[in-house]
Amino acid sequence: MPAFKELVFSGVQPTGNLHLGNYLGAIKRFVAMQAQYECLYCVVDLHAITVWQDPGELTRQIREVTAAFLAAGIDPARSVVFNQSQVPQHAELAWIFNCVARLGWLNRMTQFKEKAGKDRENASIGLYDYPVLMAADILAYRATHVPVGEDQKQHLELTRDIAQKFNNDFAGAIAEHGHGEAFFPLTEPLIGGPAARVMSLRDGTKKMSKSDPSDYSRINLTDDPDAIAQKVRKAKTDAEPLPSETAGLEKRPEADNLVGIFAALNDASREDVLREYGGAQFSAFKGALVDLAVAKLGPIGAEMKRLVADPGHIDAVLAEGAARAEAIAAPNIAAVKDIVGFVRRR
Ligand code: TRP
Repeated sequence: MPAFKELVFSGVQPTGNLHLGNYLGAIKRFVAMQAQYECLYCVVDLHAITVWQDPGELTRQIREVTAAFLAAGIDPARSVVFNQSQVPQHAELAWIFNCVARLGWLNRMTQFKEKAGKDRENASIGLYDYPVLMAADILAYRATHVPVGEDQKQHLELTRDIAQKFNNDFAGAIAEHGHGEAFFPLTEPLIGGPAARVMSLRDGTKKMSKSDPSDYSRINLTDDPDAIAQKVRKAKTDAEPLPSETAGLEKRPEADNLVGIFAALNDASREDVLREYGGAQFSAFKGALVDLAVAKLGPIGAEMKRLVADPGHIDAVLAEGAARAEAIAAPNIAAVKDIVGFVRRR
């Protein structure tokens, strides 16, 4: 495999309010990656409409996710911040990949099975095709690294399968057009971080989710300090004090989750947290967690509210990002069309 320039791509869907799980599992890591990589961060609105979205609400959420990126510290002068539907190459490459990916591969996607549920006949074709569009997102930029959660690992594997099959099927044309041995990189997932999985505050065995009916199960990024405090204080725990070693968190999912959240917010490890709070009662630990969460999330929520009040500014950031994204993707897609054998408009 030839060397590809290191490039990070990731996407967040503009559906449902953003919560602590989205922040610690994704956005906070996106911010940190800017120091090491050239990064593109995309609001994936084409993915959002694979299930029904109220149009007005979709518009609001696209701007809100953008605001969250900026408020959390993604620097639009350095990283490319944009929304998918403004860059036509995503959908264009997805079509070509539809003709590379195999039905059998998509039939194995567990997320489709979960999202479609029992009424599969009534799922949109877009929902089925979702992973192919995701491969197009990543490979339109020939991105080498993708920070994602555990739940997206299978989609990343599909992305690699599509890249590999394209590289093999078109090996002759790829070489003829001067692209060497392979046109697409085999993209690596970047999974992990201290709180890759933030769990519900009501049930430590379930992921924190925008679709949980109880708002007490999650901390939303726009929650005010009072709401944050109330939710942390009401978070489910067990009756024991905190252990002093991480081994003592096993089989205590709620304790493990709160310690993990504390660690991730404080850029520390679970060990560090237990060194300080081992033996403490939850009442004391929750007090410290409220202070920490309010200190870290309060300013982000406030900045988000300030930003969404000025949609003109957000739209300008997105327009500038789309232009920069398209400048990278357009030559790649033009090359793909040459490789496939299409005739260019002259
Ligand atoms: N499927 C991802 C999710 O739900 C969102 C996404 C779309 C994405 N395209 C992507 C993530 C490309 C990483 C790279 O979390």
